[in-house]
Amino acid sequence: MSENDHPLDLTRLPRHVAIIMDGNGRWAQRRGLPRVRGHLAGVESVRAVVQEARRLGISFLTLYAFSEENWQRPRLEIRALMALLRRYLHRELKEMQDNQIALNAIGELDKLPPAVQEDLARTMAATAPGAQMTLNLALSYGGRTEIVRAAQALGREIQAGRLRPEDIDAALFARHLYTGNLPDPDLLIRTSGEYRLSNFLLWQTAYTELYITDTLWPDFREEEFNRAIAAFQQRERRYGLTAEQLAANAGAKER
Ligand code: IPE
Ligand code: IPE
Ligand code: MG
Repeated sequence: MSENDHPLDLTRLPRHVAIIMDGNGRWAQRRGLPRVRGHLAGVESVRAVVQEARRLGISFLTLYAFSEENWQRPRLEIRALMALLRRYLHRELKEMQDNQIALNAIGELDKLPPAVQEDLARTMAATAPGAQMTLNLALSYGGRTEIVRAAQALGREIQAGRLRPEDIDAALFARHLYTGNLPDPDLLIRTSGEYRLSNFLLWQTAYTELYITDTLWPDFREEEFNRAIAAFQQRERRYGLTAEQLAANAGAKER
């Protein structure tokens, strides 16, 4: 299917798209290949989707690249994933700079191998100025840990006498998450047909639209991405209101 089958309204794009990139292992296994070959093919999907998101004018793209739980995978697979990440950062630096994409990373980054941490820091510093899109990589990321860390940080501020418990509200809490300066995702895509969050952005997805496709991540390219955005544009985000209230609010805004 071509993009023309799904005309997108470029004035109603999601501001922030988050993706659980799942199915690399199955993609490889179906071809009788080692799992790592699936991760290798998955990198090409990352390149395609990043490029397409930038082309469309999406402001924030968050990719779930490695979860806290993924540390329990076979040592060799973890090593291969870290090597792929480093290679991606080296290879894409110029592309990111040329296309005004800033790299950001969220998660327990100090658990990553030092070489990966250094590459991340270098790439973030080299891509920051004047960016039009933020590519946010979730690495060694766990949603519950993120929430616990925020609670600890707020607890320390109370202990130091800088904050009263009753001053904590949702907005203040959100600012203490790794995503403190990002808007919540408007659209969350999960590939490979699994209907779960797998500890991803638990707080931030409270009102996110979900899009799940059976397509395995290495087969998910710009067309599929456009299809997901088109589906998003068909949704009515009611935030607990009635459809009539929404229509009235939209009318009031136009007047
Ligand atoms: C997603 O693909 C990549 C990571 C979790 C790093 P998987 O490796 O989970 O692939 P499946 O789910 O086993 O097919
Ligand atoms: C989620 O995929 C993590 C990433 C995509 C990085 P998993 O493959 O680890 O999730 P589960 O095990 O199916 O829940
Ligand atoms: Mg998986």
